[in-house]
Amino acid sequence: MEEVQKKRMLSGIQPSGDLHLGNYLGAIKNWADRVNDYECFYFMADLHTITVRQDPSELRKRSVNQLAQYIACGLDPEKNVLFLQSHVPAHSQLAWVLNCYTMFGELSRMTQFKDKSAKYSNNINAGLFTYPVLMAADILLYQPDYVPVGEDQKQHVEICRDIAIRFNSIYGDVFKVPEPLIAKTGARIYGLTTPGDKMSKSVPDGCVFLMDSPDDIRRKFKRAVTDSDRENCVRYDKEAKPGVANLMNIYSTLTGKTMTEIESEFAGQGYGVFKPAVGDAVVEALRPIREEAERLMKDKAYLDEVYRKGAEKASYVAGKTLRKVYKKVGFYQI
Ligand code: TRP
Repeated sequence: MEEVQKKRMLSGIQPSGDLHLGNYLGAIKNWADRVNDYECFYFMADLHTITVRQDPSELRKRSVNQLAQYIACGLDPEKNVLFLQSHVPAHSQLAWVLNCYTMFGELSRMTQFKDKSAKYSNNINAGLFTYPVLMAADILLYQPDYVPVGEDQKQHVEICRDIAIRFNSIYGDVFKVPEPLIAKTGARIYGLTTPGDKMSKSVPDGCVFLMDSPDDIRRKFKRAVTDSDRENCVRYDKEAKPGVANLMNIYSTLTGKTMTEIESEFAGQGYGVFKPAVGDAVVEALRPIREEAERLMKDKAYLDEVYRKGAEKASYVAGKTLRKVYKKVGFYQI
Protein backbone atom coordinates (compact mmCIF):
# COMPACT_ATOMS: atom_id res chain seq x y z
CA MET A 1 0.00 0.00 0.00
CA GLU A 2 1.22 3.43 -0.84
CA GLU A 3 1.93 5.61 2.16
CA VAL A 4 0.11 8.93 2.05
CA GLN A 5 2.33 11.86 2.95
CA LYS A 6 0.92 13.47 6.09
CA LYS A 7 0.32 17.22 6.05
CA ARG A 8 2.77 19.18 8.17
CA MET A 9 1.88 21.42 11.08
CA LEU A 10 4.11 23.80 13.00
CA SER A 11 3.60 26.06 15.96
CA GLY A 12 5.67 28.08 18.39
CA ILE A 13 4.99 28.60 22.07
CA GLN A 14 6.53 31.33 24.17
CA PRO A 15 8.18 29.89 27.29
CA SER A 16 6.70 32.78 29.18
CA GLY A 17 5.24 31.19 32.26
CA ASP A 18 3.55 28.31 33.94
CA LEU A 19 0.89 26.43 32.02
CA HIS A 20 -2.61 26.51 33.44
CA LEU A 21 -5.91 24.66 33.19
CA GLY A 22 -7.11 27.01 30.45
CA ASN A 23 -4.07 26.20 28.29
CA TYR A 24 -4.53 22.51 28.96
CA LEU A 25 -8.27 22.09 28.38
CA GLY A 26 -8.40 24.75 25.67
CA ALA A 27 -5.51 23.54 23.57
CA ILE A 28 -2.74 21.21 24.72
CA LYS A 29 -5.05 18.31 25.57
CA ASN A 30 -6.05 18.10 21.93
CA TRP A 31 -2.53 18.31 20.54
CA ALA A 32 -1.58 14.80 21.56
CA ASP A 33 -4.11 13.40 19.09
CA ARG A 34 -2.91 15.46 16.15
CA VAL A 35 0.07 13.23 15.47
CA ASN A 36 -2.25 10.66 13.96
CA ASP A 37 -3.14 12.98 11.10
CA TYR A 38 -0.22 15.42 10.88
CA GLU A 39 3.52 15.60 11.06
CA CYS A 40 3.93 18.03 13.96
CA PHE A 41 6.71 20.46 14.84
CA TYR A 42 6.49 22.45 18.09
CA PHE A 43 9.14 24.77 19.42
CA MET A 44 9.63 27.03 22.42
CA ALA A 45 10.04 30.52 21.01
CA ASP A 46 12.77 31.79 23.31
CA LEU A 47 14.13 34.24 20.72
CA HIS A 48 10.76 35.96 20.70
CA THR A 49 10.61 36.33 24.49
CA ILE A 50 13.53 38.76 24.66
CA THR A 51 11.55 41.41 22.78
CA VAL A 52 10.50 42.26 26.33
CA ARG A 53 13.04 42.13 29.17
CA GLN A 54 13.54 38.69 30.71
CA ASP A 55 15.36 37.50 33.76
CA PRO A 56 18.05 35.23 32.26
CA SER A 57 17.96 32.49 34.88
CA GLU A 58 14.16 32.45 34.84
CA LEU A 59 14.08 32.18 31.07
CA ARG A 60 16.59 29.34 31.16
CA LYS A 61 14.54 27.47 33.76
CA ARG A 62 11.23 28.01 32.02
CA SER A 63 12.56 26.87 28.67
CA VAL A 64 13.27 23.41 30.02
CA ASN A 65 10.46 23.15 32.61
CA GLN A 66 7.88 24.04 30.04
CA LEU A 67 9.16 21.25 27.81
CA ALA A 68 8.68 18.83 30.73
CA GLN A 69 5.12 20.08 31.24
CA TYR A 70 4.21 19.68 27.58
CA ILE A 71 5.55 16.14 27.52
CA ALA A 72 3.62 15.38 30.71
CA CYS A 73 0.46 16.65 29.01
CA GLY A 74 0.86 13.95 26.40
CA LEU A 75 3.02 15.53 23.72
CA ASP A 76 5.20 12.57 22.81
CA PRO A 77 8.75 13.55 21.77
CA GLU A 78 9.08 10.33 19.79
CA LYS A 79 6.14 11.30 17.59
CA ASN A 80 6.44 15.11 17.51
CA VAL A 81 9.50 17.22 16.78
CA LEU A 82 9.99 19.29 19.94
CA PHE A 83 12.78 21.82 20.00
CA LEU A 84 14.04 25.16 21.27
CA GLN A 85 14.11 28.00 18.74
CA SER A 86 17.57 29.29 19.72
CA HIS A 87 19.04 25.82 19.12
CA VAL A 88 18.35 26.14 15.40
CA PRO A 89 20.35 29.10 14.04
CA ALA A 90 18.50 29.00 10.71
CA HIS A 91 15.61 30.90 12.36
CA SER A 92 17.77 33.96 12.96
CA GLN A 93 19.51 33.57 9.60
CA LEU A 94 16.33 33.46 7.55
CA ALA A 95 14.81 36.25 9.65
CA TRP A 96 17.54 38.62 8.46
CA VAL A 97 16.90 37.79 4.82
CA LEU A 98 13.14 38.17 5.23
CA ASN A 99 13.65 41.53 6.95
CA CYS A 100 14.77 42.76 3.56
CA TYR A 101 11.54 41.55 1.96
CA THR A 102 9.20 43.02 4.55
CA MET A 103 7.99 46.60 4.42
CA PHE A 104 8.16 49.12 7.22
CA GLY A 105 4.56 50.07 6.50
CA GLU A 106 3.17 46.58 6.85
CA LEU A 107 4.96 46.01 10.14
CA SER A 108 3.62 49.34 11.41
CA ARG A 109 0.09 48.03 10.96
CA MET A 110 0.52 45.02 13.25
CA THR A 111 -1.89 45.36 16.16
CA GLN A 112 0.33 43.39 18.54
CA PHE A 113 3.18 45.84 17.92
CA LYS A 114 0.88 48.75 18.66
CA ASP A 115 -0.38 47.08 21.84
CA LYS A 116 3.03 46.03 23.07
CA SER A 117 4.72 49.32 22.34
CA ALA A 118 2.00 51.04 24.37
CA LYS A 119 2.46 48.55 27.20
CA TYR A 120 6.28 48.61 27.19
CA SER A 121 6.72 52.24 26.20
CA ASN A 122 10.19 52.45 27.81
CA ASN A 123 11.52 49.63 25.60
CA ILE A 124 10.18 49.91 22.06
CA ASN A 125 13.08 48.01 20.54
CA ALA A 126 13.58 46.99 16.92
CA GLY A 127 12.97 43.36 17.84
CA LEU A 128 9.47 44.18 18.98
CA PHE A 129 8.91 45.77 15.58
CA THR A 130 10.37 42.92 13.51
CA TYR A 131 8.86 40.18 15.70
CA PRO A 132 6.53 39.05 12.85
CA VAL A 133 9.50 38.65 10.51
CA LEU A 134 11.19 36.21 12.88
CA MET A 135 7.86 34.42 13.17
CA ALA A 136 7.61 34.24 9.37
CA ALA A 137 11.09 32.70 9.29
CA ASP A 138 10.07 30.19 12.01
CA ILE A 139 7.21 29.09 9.83
CA LEU A 140 8.58 29.22 6.28
CA LEU A 141 11.74 27.25 7.12
CA TYR A 142 9.60 24.14 7.68
CA GLN A 143 7.27 24.44 4.66
CA PRO A 144 4.22 23.56 6.80
CA ASP A 145 0.69 23.23 5.46
CA TYR A 146 -0.91 24.54 8.64
CA VAL A 147 0.02 26.86 11.50
CA PRO A 148 -2.26 26.42 14.53
CA VAL A 149 -2.39 29.67 16.49
CA GLY A 150 -4.69 31.65 18.72
CA GLU A 151 -6.85 34.40 17.27
CA ASP A 152 -4.29 37.00 18.46
CA GLN A 153 -1.60 35.57 16.14
CA LYS A 154 -3.69 35.37 13.00
CA GLN A 155 -2.42 38.69 11.67
CA HIS A 156 1.15 37.43 12.05
CA VAL A 157 0.41 34.34 9.99
CA GLU A 158 -1.17 36.56 7.36
CA ILE A 159 1.92 38.76 7.07
CA CYS A 160 3.97 35.57 6.84
CA ARG A 161 1.86 34.53 3.85
CA ASP A 162 2.35 37.96 2.26
CA ILE A 163 6.12 37.72 2.71
CA ALA A 164 6.18 34.20 1.24
CA ILE A 165 4.10 35.21 -1.77
CA ARG A 166 6.30 38.27 -2.37
CA PHE A 167 9.50 36.20 -2.17
CA ASN A 168 8.07 33.45 -4.39
CA SER A 169 6.98 35.98 -7.00
CA ILE A 170 10.59 37.11 -7.37
CA TYR A 171 12.47 33.81 -7.07
CA GLY A 172 10.01 31.05 -7.94
CA ASP A 173 8.38 28.58 -5.59
CA VAL A 174 10.74 28.63 -2.63
CA PHE A 175 8.22 28.68 0.22
CA LYS A 176 4.99 26.83 0.76
CA VAL A 177 2.31 29.40 1.64
CA PRO A 178 0.78 28.08 4.89
CA GLU A 179 -2.77 28.34 6.20
CA PRO A 180 -3.50 29.57 9.71
CA LEU A 181 -5.53 27.14 11.79
CA ILE A 182 -7.54 28.95 14.42
CA ALA A 183 -8.67 26.43 17.01
CA LYS A 184 -12.43 26.21 17.27
CA THR A 185 -12.44 23.02 19.32
CA GLY A 186 -11.28 22.87 22.90
CA ALA A 187 -12.96 24.35 25.92
CA ARG A 188 -12.89 28.05 26.63
CA ILE A 189 -12.02 28.35 30.30
CA TYR A 190 -12.53 31.56 32.27
CA GLY A 191 -10.86 32.80 35.44
CA LEU A 192 -12.36 31.39 38.64
CA THR A 193 -12.54 34.83 40.23
CA THR A 194 -13.18 36.76 37.01
CA PRO A 195 -15.59 34.63 34.96
CA GLY A 196 -15.88 37.40 32.36
CA ASP A 197 -12.24 37.00 31.32
CA LYS A 198 -10.22 34.09 29.97
CA MET A 199 -8.22 32.25 32.63
CA SER A 200 -4.89 34.01 32.81
CA LYS A 201 -1.73 33.82 34.87
CA SER A 202 -1.99 37.56 35.49
CA VAL A 203 -4.88 36.81 37.89
CA PRO A 204 -3.23 34.01 39.93
CA ASP A 205 -6.09 33.59 42.45
CA GLY A 206 -8.46 32.53 39.73
CA CYS A 207 -5.90 30.63 37.72
CA VAL A 208 -5.22 26.93 38.26
CA PHE A 209 -1.65 26.11 37.30
CA LEU A 210 -0.78 22.58 36.19
CA MET A 211 1.90 22.50 38.88
CA ASP A 212 -0.38 23.69 41.72
CA SER A 213 -0.60 21.38 44.73
CA PRO A 214 -3.94 19.61 45.36
CA ASP A 215 -4.49 21.88 48.39
CA ASP A 216 -3.99 25.02 46.33
CA ILE A 217 -6.35 23.75 43.64
CA ARG A 218 -9.07 22.90 46.17
CA ARG A 219 -8.70 26.30 47.82
CA LYS A 220 -9.02 28.12 44.49
CA PHE A 221 -12.21 26.23 43.65
CA LYS A 222 -13.73 26.89 47.07
CA ARG A 223 -13.23 30.60 46.44
CA ALA A 224 -14.52 30.51 42.89
CA VAL A 225 -17.08 33.16 42.01
CA THR A 226 -20.52 31.65 41.32
CA ASP A 227 -23.30 34.16 40.87
CA SER A 228 -24.64 37.28 42.48
CA ASP A 229 -28.28 36.23 42.76
CA ARG A 230 -27.51 33.79 45.56
CA GLU A 231 -29.81 31.27 43.96
CA ASN A 232 -27.41 28.56 45.12
CA CYS A 233 -28.54 26.20 42.41
CA VAL A 234 -26.35 24.43 39.84
CA ARG A 235 -28.02 25.47 36.63
CA TYR A 236 -26.39 26.23 33.26
CA ASP A 237 -27.05 29.86 32.35
CA LYS A 238 -24.07 31.48 30.70
CA GLU A 239 -25.56 34.98 30.76
CA ALA A 240 -26.96 35.09 34.28
CA LYS A 241 -24.46 32.79 35.98
CA PRO A 242 -21.14 32.91 34.08
CA GLY A 243 -19.16 31.67 37.08
CA VAL A 244 -21.34 28.60 37.53
CA ALA A 245 -21.35 27.97 33.78
CA ASN A 246 -17.55 28.07 33.76
CA LEU A 247 -17.32 25.55 36.61
CA MET A 248 -19.84 23.32 34.87
CA ASN A 249 -17.88 23.57 31.66
CA ILE A 250 -14.68 22.51 33.44
CA TYR A 251 -16.49 19.63 35.12
CA SER A 252 -18.12 18.57 31.87
CA THR A 253 -14.83 18.61 29.95
CA LEU A 254 -13.15 16.45 32.58
CA THR A 255 -15.95 13.94 33.21
CA GLY A 256 -17.63 13.85 29.80
CA LYS A 257 -20.99 14.56 31.46
CA THR A 258 -23.53 16.85 29.79
CA MET A 259 -24.84 20.01 31.44
CA THR A 260 -28.19 18.31 32.08
CA GLU A 261 -26.47 15.39 33.76
CA ILE A 262 -24.47 17.76 35.95
CA GLU A 263 -27.61 19.69 36.91
CA SER A 264 -29.31 16.52 38.12
CA GLU A 265 -26.17 15.24 39.84
CA PHE A 266 -26.13 18.35 42.03
CA ALA A 267 -29.86 18.97 42.25
CA GLY A 268 -30.75 20.42 45.64
CA GLN A 269 -27.12 20.46 46.81
CA GLY A 270 -25.94 24.00 46.22
CA TYR A 271 -22.52 25.46 45.53
CA GLY A 272 -21.07 24.29 48.84
CA VAL A 273 -21.08 20.77 47.44
CA PHE A 274 -20.62 21.60 43.78
CA LYS A 275 -17.46 23.75 44.01
CA PRO A 276 -15.39 21.21 45.99
CA ALA A 277 -16.57 18.47 43.62
CA VAL A 278 -15.21 20.39 40.63
CA GLY A 279 -12.01 21.04 42.58
CA ASP A 280 -11.62 17.31 43.28
CA ALA A 281 -12.20 16.43 39.62
CA VAL A 282 -9.50 18.90 38.60
CA VAL A 283 -7.10 17.62 41.26
CA GLU A 284 -7.50 14.06 39.97
CA ALA A 285 -7.17 15.08 36.31
CA LEU A 286 -4.03 17.09 36.94
CA ARG A 287 -2.40 14.68 39.39
CA PRO A 288 -0.78 12.38 36.81
CA ILE A 289 0.36 15.37 34.74
CA ARG A 290 1.94 17.12 37.71
CA GLU A 291 3.63 13.95 38.95
CA GLU A 292 5.02 13.16 35.51
CA ALA A 293 6.19 16.74 34.97
CA GLU A 294 7.88 16.78 38.38
CA ARG A 295 9.64 13.54 37.55
CA LEU A 296 10.77 14.87 34.16
CA MET A 297 11.90 18.23 35.52
CA LYS A 298 14.38 16.34 37.69
CA ASP A 299 15.64 14.39 34.70
CA LYS A 300 17.68 17.09 33.01
CA ALA A 301 19.66 14.57 30.99
CA TYR A 302 16.48 13.27 29.39
CA LEU A 303 15.10 16.74 28.62
CA ASP A 304 18.42 17.84 27.15
CA GLU A 305 18.40 14.77 24.96
CA VAL A 306 14.86 15.57 23.74
CA TYR A 307 15.99 19.08 22.86
CA ARG A 308 19.17 17.78 21.22
CA LYS A 309 17.33 15.29 19.03
CA GLY A 310 14.60 17.81 18.26
CA ALA A 311 17.13 20.43 17.17
CA GLU A 312 18.84 17.88 14.96
CA LYS A 313 15.64 16.94 13.16
CA ALA A 314 14.52 20.55 12.89
CA SER A 315 17.91 21.74 11.61
CA TYR A 316 17.83 19.17 8.85
CA VAL A 317 14.52 20.46 7.50
CA ALA A 318 15.29 24.13 8.13
CA GLY A 319 18.77 23.86 6.59
CA LYS A 320 17.36 22.71 3.27
CA THR A 321 15.11 25.75 2.99
CA LEU A 322 17.80 28.16 4.15
CA ARG A 323 20.33 26.87 1.57
CA LYS A 324 17.79 27.33 -1.17
CA VAL A 325 17.07 30.90 -0.05
CA TYR A 326 20.78 31.80 0.17
CA LYS A 327 21.29 30.49 -3.35
CA LYS A 328 18.26 32.31 -4.75
CA VAL A 329 19.20 35.71 -3.35
CA GLY A 330 22.75 35.37 -4.70
CA PHE A 331 24.96 34.54 -1.71
CA TYR A 332 28.17 32.99 -3.06
CA GLN A 333 28.36 29.29 -2.24
CA ILE A 334 31.62 27.46 -1.46
N1 TRP B 1 4.09 34.63 18.44
C1 TRP B 1 3.52 33.40 18.92
C2 TRP B 1 2.78 33.66 20.24
O1 TRP B 1 3.11 34.57 20.96
C3 TRP B 1 4.58 32.36 19.16
C4 TRP B 1 5.27 32.00 17.88
C5 TRP B 1 6.54 32.33 17.54
C6 TRP B 1 4.74 31.24 16.82
N2 TRP B 1 6.85 31.80 16.32
C7 TRP B 1 5.76 31.12 15.84
C8 TRP B 1 3.50 30.63 16.60
C9 TRP B 1 5.56 30.45 14.65
C10 TRP B 1 3.30 29.94 15.40
C11 TRP B 1 4.34 29.84 14.43
O2 TRP B 1 1.88 32.91 20.56
